[in-house]
Amino acid sequence: MSVGIDDISFATSNFYLDLKSLADVQQIEADKYYLGIGQEKMGMVSLDEDVVTMAANAALPIVEKIDRQSISTVLFATETGIDQSKAAGIFVHGLLELPARCRVVELKQACYSATGALQMACALVARNPQQKVLVLASDIARYDLDSSGEATQGCGAVAMLISANPRLVEIEPESGHYTEDVMDFWRPNYRSTALVDGKYSTKIYLKALKQAWSHYHEVSGVEFDQLDYVCYHLPFSRMAEKAQLQLAKFSKSSADSAALLARIEPTLHYNRILGNSYTASMYIGLNSLLDNADQDLSGRRIGFFSYGSGCVAEFFSGRIVPGYKAHLHSEQHARMLAEREELDYNAYLRFYHATHPIDGGDHQFEPKTRGHFRLAGISQHKRIYSAR
Ligand code: HMG
Repeated sequence: MSVGIDDISFATSNFYLDLKSLADVQQIEADKYYLGIGQEKMGMVSLDEDVVTMAANAALPIVEKIDRQSISTVLFATETGIDQSKAAGIFVHGLLELPARCRVVELKQACYSATGALQMACALVARNPQQKVLVLASDIARYDLDSSGEATQGCGAVAMLISANPRLVEIEPESGHYTEDVMDFWRPNYRSTALVDGKYSTKIYLKALKQAWSHYHEVSGVEFDQLDYVCYHLPFSRMAEKAQLQLAKFSKSSADSAALLARIEPTLHYNRILGNSYTASMYIGLNSLLDNADQDLSGRRIGFFSYGSGCVAEFFSGRIVPGYKAHLHSEQHARMLAEREELDYNAYLRFYHATHPIDGGDHQFEPKTRGHFRLAGISQHKRIYSAR
């Protein structure tokens, strides 16, 4: 019996800033962003969008197609938590009308925790193949204005159904891990934006990659050139390109640069126009590969490098299941992305500074998002969600 990803879908906010608008205000060339970090647009949320609405919107097309009673567990990975106590996944559980006989938990370790959730889900399903686990990863990446990280903001959510004999990706059992106590990126409870030592964070990312890969290679015996594609954690797409070239050199790959970059190119399409979506980003990269690869991926082995600052990293692999194409939500993704609205720089600032009220009063938010689920208001410190 194999275990893995039976269905996958993603969602993002309705609004974005083109990085050219940011570059124009900063009086620098747009190519610093378009080429230098490989990003074109970054998603911005309106007041009626948050990690819950994005996650519920990502999961809706998946749960609509199955018997909801079969979902035994919801694991919600995020570092943009909305409550210190209640798991954000419980709101999603309610919106999606999932069964009461279900466990729901929130997980945190920077951008890594969705991978922790995926591995736990695979273990649960291996123990009881009748059950299905819904893994959700949803985040809003925010940095200070005029900081090095500003152009790498973004947002998005991914939903994955983990089951026995999956229709999309069989997750292989071997994986390599790496943990080190470092301060490359963090967000104390009293801050809404992350603090980051940008250049240091990229060095730690690459160090963790080599360590996690070495462990994976040792336990699996898989050579780098046996990976047909690699999905990297995507803080920005140039990071994945650097990672791919460094890992190829480290593992003495015989492939040339063009061939190496071709093995990650289809994973980057969505991230380039969403920006960093922290926990969701590597899996939105997988969704990008499945939706956008020119060739049939059936039987191909995919490497995954998941990285979360602080830091925890994991390298693992999966095989694409023949017939996967019939189960993708590619058209819906294309429609959602086409419907997004561009913000000019002043509107971006308004979105950036807009915050949810904390006075305990009754507040309703103007409908802005086109997503199926929205945050309708906050009343007496309670978030109120609604469906369109
Ligand atoms: P920066 O100021 O954009 O860096 O910051 P830069 O000045 O070195 O420019 C970047 C690249 O653009 C350079 O190329 C320039 O040459 C090039 P490189 O040397 O890298 O090859 N460039 C141009 N190219 C073409 N045309 C031009 C042009 N001008 C310049 N006109 C930095 C980069 C990563 C520091 C910044 O974006 C940052 O602080 N980002 C936030 C932190 C981050 O994303 N770190 C990544 C690793 S950590 C991680 O992934 C975890 C994370 O997701 C959080 C979590 O785990 O929860 C962040």
